[in-house]
Amino acid sequence: MNKQLEMLIYKLINEQGLSLEEYEFLIKNRTIESARLLAEAAVKARKKIYGNTVFIRGLIEISNICKNDCFYCGIRRSNYSCQRYRLTCEEILECCKEGYGLGFRTFVLQDGEDSYYSDERLLPLLKDIKSLYPDCAVTLSLGERSRESYQKLFDAGADRYLLRHETAEEEHYLKLHPENMSYVNRMRCLKDLKEIGYQTGCGFMVGSPYQTNRQLAMDLKFIETFRPQMCGIGPFIPHRDTPFGNQPAGAVELTCYLLSVIRLIKPNILLPATTALGTLEETGREKGILSGANVVMPNLSPVSVREKYRLYDNKVSDGAESAQCVEELKKRMEAIGYTIITDRGDINKY
Ligand code: 5AD
Repeated sequence: MNKQLEMLIYKLINEQGLSLEEYEFLIKNRTIESARLLAEAAVKARKKIYGNTVFIRGLIEISNICKNDCFYCGIRRSNYSCQRYRLTCEEILECCKEGYGLGFRTFVLQDGEDSYYSDERLLPLLKDIKSLYPDCAVTLSLGERSRESYQKLFDAGADRYLLRHETAEEEHYLKLHPENMSYVNRMRCLKDLKEIGYQTGCGFMVGSPYQTNRQLAMDLKFIETFRPQMCGIGPFIPHRDTPFGNQPAGAVELTCYLLSVIRLIKPNILLPATTALGTLEETGREKGILSGANVVMPNLSPVSVREKYRLYDNKVSDGAESAQCVEELKKRMEAIGYTIITDRGDINKY
């Protein structure tokens, strides 16, 4: 193998970081061999901390109503062919009940940016979930909010917050979002969340339109310096009713490569094999786990709304992607040597 690549990989393993130029080199010059070496090291690193266990999260898509108009997203405000829905608090509690019975100990509440879910509505809901299921963690994925709101939700019992940064370069951010959204505010949110004490997750799409290797290197540098507890990455997949409908999808191969690098940057990070990965390829989830991921997030939303939360074309919500089919997921993970456990699945600090 290319000596320079090999040296960079050893440096990454030993120092858990590289310079921006080095990350870029590692991406640009990747080979089958460097991918294999990285995946091997990533799996070794995750096994040292998490053994062969895989954490599961029950994903409840509470609303697909969104005030934002991100160019890549199928539930963007301007997509009039998207059928909108919103779950009531009772329906959300029903999902938690079902999820608890299926062995889920983390519930992820995700929506578009729907102002219906004000603090006044969310606080009692959070208190209900936490008192009914005191052994469960609640993860919120409700977009950009004020620091005060993040603080209130945290005080009401939310444990974790997912907010993908989408891209760590401001110019690129502007190409993916309309003018009224800002990179600076996105970063402000992430900083607030971490300071408040949430287990915080950032993340980005691989192969989003206009993305360069340099920008991916910046994403890795951002992860290295921000040190999130979680990181969600998945391939970009076009949605036909968006401005990016004709853009090519990202690659499973590059996504897995980056999963390995991220595992080595922060060995204890909670790293999901995402739905987008499982959508592009039947065995995408397995490939993610074998590259260093340690989390899967099956869908726990009511079956009647699943089709409507369509961020991209062909999004899977059945089979192993469905919480009700967790047994199938278990078998698939066992087939590659991993075990799904019933556990909150917090970050291992050691
Ligand atoms: N392809 C892949 N991922 C997408 N997301 C939104 N639209 C797409 C798409 N077309 C991701 C974004 C967002 C997360 C909830 O889903 O990164 O933060």
